[in-house]
Parts: sequence; structure tokens; C-alpha cells
Amino acid sequence: MPPWNCRGFNGFTRSVCKRALVMLSSTATLLFFVSTGSIEAQEKNPFAGDAKAAKLGEYQFRLNCAFCHGLGARGGGRGPDLTKAQKRHGNSDAEIFHNIHDGISGTAMPAATNGGIGVGMSDEEIWQVVTYLRSAQVMAPAQPAGNAEHGKELFNGGAGCSTCHMIQGKGGRLGPDLTTVGASRSTEYLAESLRNPSRRLAQGIFEAMKEFPKEYESVSVVTAEGTKLSGVILNEDQFTVQMLDTHEQLHLFEKDKLRSFEKRRESAMSAYDQKTLSDKDLQDLIAYLQSVGAQ
Ligand code: HEC
Ligand code: HEC
Repeated sequence: MPPWNCRGFNGFTRSVCKRALVMLSSTATLLFFVSTGSIEAQEKNPFAGDAKAAKLGEYQFRLNCAFCHGLGARGGGRGPDLTKAQKRHGNSDAEIFHNIHDGISGTAMPAATNGGIGVGMSDEEIWQVVTYLRSAQVMAPAQPAGNAEHGKELFNGGAGCSTCHMIQGKGGRLGPDLTTVGASRSTEYLAESLRNPSRRLAQGIFEAMKEFPKEYESVSVVTAEGTKLSGVILNEDQFTVQMLDTHEQLHLFEKDKLRSFEKRRESAMSAYDQKTLSDKDLQDLIAYLQSVGAQ
């Protein structure tokens, strides 16, 4: 490591030292320009509007992203619709690139590099995907407009959702917190969660932030005293089971002390068919969940 000033040198050595410092600092300036140059290059999509790059990006997307974000990027069971112009974590090319490159911390969105997704993607491939997403965005149909205000009334009132679900800290605890569900799930997934809740159970596994580490399995038990209880499983091992009953009471049982213990891969939430919830009301509820998720 050379000294950063030439105090302590005399005569000839001092002038050599000074010249060396000048050279060093100009190299540093040069390096500085080179590196800011490449940062600048990262802010702009080198393939913007390039149809061929979009095609390559679509291929990459199917390979690496579609199992969460759905085919055509219209949203899947685990990731949001990416064809909406208004994105939650930033709309610029640079922000989208960054979200893909580094992932979104605190969410299930993994980094596309460092083996977070598949074998890892190069910057070039990520830009191709950004290009593809831009092309898909233009073709996306307008979102069906539900009435979020009415959806909120239903959620907290008539439809009874808030007895089991929390939104922004208010509501029940038997079902998962739905504060971010509108942002992280597709419209189709949300509709299906209501019409046919048992088809795909909510999963906690991929959401680091959720308390529940696994699927929301339902459970019915009859205790040694003959009390019947039903609810969801919070934790379970070979010998014990911890459950939350429908009155939000927490129980810990030793399995072999129970008169009966029955687990079902079936939602504790009953299906809302057209009679209990019209298509219009369903749309309003989804609009409400999406409006909360967008905040
Ligand atoms: C394991 C599932 C998963 C995979 C794989 C995945 N994502 Fe995501 N992604 C998510 C989730 C969940 C979110 C929403 C995060 C949040 O806001 O809670 C998200 C968010 C995003 C966002 C931000 C959306 C916004 O509204 O700002 C972009 C962009 C994105 N993903 C692109 C991609 C791309 C491109 C790939 C493939 C290279 C990919 N994702 C792979 C789950 C995934
Ligand atoms: C009796 C309690 C109960 C009621 C009432 C209830 N839910 Fe649920 N809900 C659950 C449980 C438990 C789960 C988790 C199992 C599953 O995926 O079905 C769940 C799952 C969900 C999911 C899927 C979440 C995810 O991350 O996959 C959505 C969306 C949802 N509920 C919305 C609603 C809405 C909207 C209403 C009101 C119309 C409602 N629920 C009423 C208990 C309930």
C-alpha cells in the first residue's frame, strides 16, 4: 500500500512519490468513470422494444418464473400478475431489473442470481425478461373493475371474512393474514380461494414472514373428556399436535391421549358458491384485497 501523501520523503524520492500519487489518482478517476459508466448502462434496458430479445425473454420467463407468476406472466398461485402497468415495487426498467436480479427481501420473490432461481441468470438474460414483461404489459387487458369500497364492507360485515382473516392487524386468526394476498396472488387464484378453497390450500412454506410453516390443514379431535373441537393445525410432531380451534383457542394435545384425531387436507374455510356470494360481490371483495395489497 503506497503512502497517500509524501510527507516523510525528501528530495528525489519525494518528487517520485508525488508523481506516483498523481498517476494513482488519475487511475482512480478513470476507474471511477468506468464504473459509473457501467452503472448508467444498468439503468437502461439495452434491448428496449427489441422483439427478438422479448422472445428470448419469454423463453427465460417460462423456464424460471412461470411456475410462480403463471404463464403469460398473468399471475399464478405464488406470484403476482406482472402484466399490470402499476407495479408494487417500482415501475422503471431499472427497478424491475433490480427486483429480478436481487429478489425482494421479506417476500417469496427470490434473486435470479446466486442460484436463487434455477442455475442463475446473466444480466443479459434478465434484461431480455424485462423486455418480455414490457411487451406483455402492453397487451394486457384492462383489469375488471370491482368496487373495493363495497368489498371492504362485505369483508368486515356480511361475508364474515374478518372473523377468520386479519387485514392490517384487524380480524381473526384462524385463516392466513390477507394484508398482502392481493399483491402476491393472481385474480384467478383469489377467486378460486373463495369458490373452491380446498383445491389449493394456502401455503406458509414459501412465505418467510408467515407464522405458519406449512399448509393450513384442518383438524377435528375428540378429547379424553369427550369434547369435540375443530380448527387448523399450527404445529405437529409424532406425539403432539398444537391447534387453533374455531374460537381461536390454542390447544396442545398428546395424540395418544385423544379419543380421536382426524386431519384433512381440506380448508377450514367453507366454499362460497354463487348463492352465498354473487359474482359481483366476489369481484368487489377481490378489488378490496387488491387495493389493500397495492398500498
Ligand atoms: C418462488 C416464487 C417466485 C419465483 C420463482 C419468481 N417470483 Fe417474482 N415474485 C414472487 C412474489 C411472491 C412476488 C411478490 C412480492 C410481494 O410484493 O409480496 C414477486 C414479485 C415480482 C416482481 C415485482 C412485482 C411488482 O409488483 O413490483 C417482479 C418484477 C417479479 N417478481 C419478476 C420475476 C421474474 C422475472 C422471475 C423469474 C426470473 C420471478 N419473478 C420469479 C414470487 C416469485
Ligand atoms: C371459518 C374461517 C374462514 C372464513 C369465514 C373465511 N376464511 Fe378464508 N381461509 C380460511 C383458512 C383456514 C384458510 C387457509 C386454507 C385455505 O387455503 O383454504 C383460508 C384461505 C383464504 C385465502 C387464500 C390465502 C392464500 O394465501 O392462499 C383467501 C384469499 C381467503 N381465505 C379469503 C377469504 C375471504 C375473502 C373470505 C370472506 C368472503 C374468507 N376467506 C372467509 C378461513 C376462513
